[in-house]
Amino acid sequence: MNRFNFPDLGIGIGLRTVHYAHILDTQPDVDWFEALSENYLDTGGRPRYVLETIAERYPIVLHGVSMSIGGTDPIDFDYLRKLKELARGVNARWISDHLCWTGVSGRNVHDLLPMPYNEESLRHTAARVRVISDFLETPLVVENPSSYVEFATSTMTEWDFLAALAAESDCGLLLDVNNIYVSSFNHGFDPKTYVDAIPADRVVQVHLAGHANHGTHIIDTHDNVVIDEVWQLYGRACARTGDVSTLMEWDANIPDFETVHAEARKAEAFRGSGESGVGGRRRKGSGESGVGGRRKSSSKSLRHPTPDTRPPQDAEAVHV
Ligand SMILES: [Fe+2]
Repeated sequence: MNRFNFPDLGIGIGLRTVHYAHILDTQPDVDWFEALSENYLDTGGRPRYVLETIAERYPIVLHGVSMSIGGTDPIDFDYLRKLKELARGVNARWISDHLCWTGVSGRNVHDLLPMPYNEESLRHTAARVRVISDFLETPLVVENPSSYVEFATSTMTEWDFLAALAAESDCGLLLDVNNIYVSSFNHGFDPKTYVDAIPADRVVQVHLAGHANHGTHIIDTHDNVVIDEVWQLYGRACARTGDVSTLMEWDANIPDFETVHAEARKAEAFRGSGESGVGGRRRKGSGESGVGGRRKSSSKSLRHPTPDTRPPQDAEAVHV
């Protein structure tokens, strides 16, 4: 168990619009969903209705791509205010975003850009994470990115930076073991060293995903199954963290829901007890308290009133 007492939710799926109709119609036997925050901010209407309906039955975690915690622009409190309201509206168990920056001078490049890892950037980022966590009234959960370039001004490894950031800002960690593998290949370090160095008691959640290996480099495409080496890293991480909320990301060439779910459930082989988590198959809609402490009963039908003919939403194009 992590130091924040955020529960092991079991094995979840990244919520994607192409699966809305299937989820609403069939109420699949899945432990939890991670929703991309930006898809439900400033939208209202059907996306928000779908998420709130799913949240009546399944635990939800919010995962963002635009907090820019390493950026130099002022923190966007308008964004945080809307995010906090959304989290309370869907009883989100926690809120995560990435160790990165996403733009400068008010321009969002809609990408997760790598940071230099040194004492100056550590102090800067830790201060921002503390402010964000205080505003959200919950410890922010920070994900390690995948990257393709490094900074000459870095003086520490990414894993040492992440551990120091967690200690200084008291944040949680979302350990993306595929990102660790991708970056280790691109930058030439041992991914096992990374996993072994992470403070296990701060790991709230793990991400799994597929990628594209081009021989000289790997692109974090989220368009395929998880490779064996990444599964082994996942097992290595679980040996340190114990059973931890685990989520499968699939963002391009997305297959049918059951294919994604079957890939995710391979994680069961690496989990100690083989039992599903607190929001899982046996205790769906268990009323666990989320951000803001709101509790909900599960009474609303998951059936949607009209056929889902909307096109996929935008933020899913960002690989996280
Ligand atoms: Fe991820």
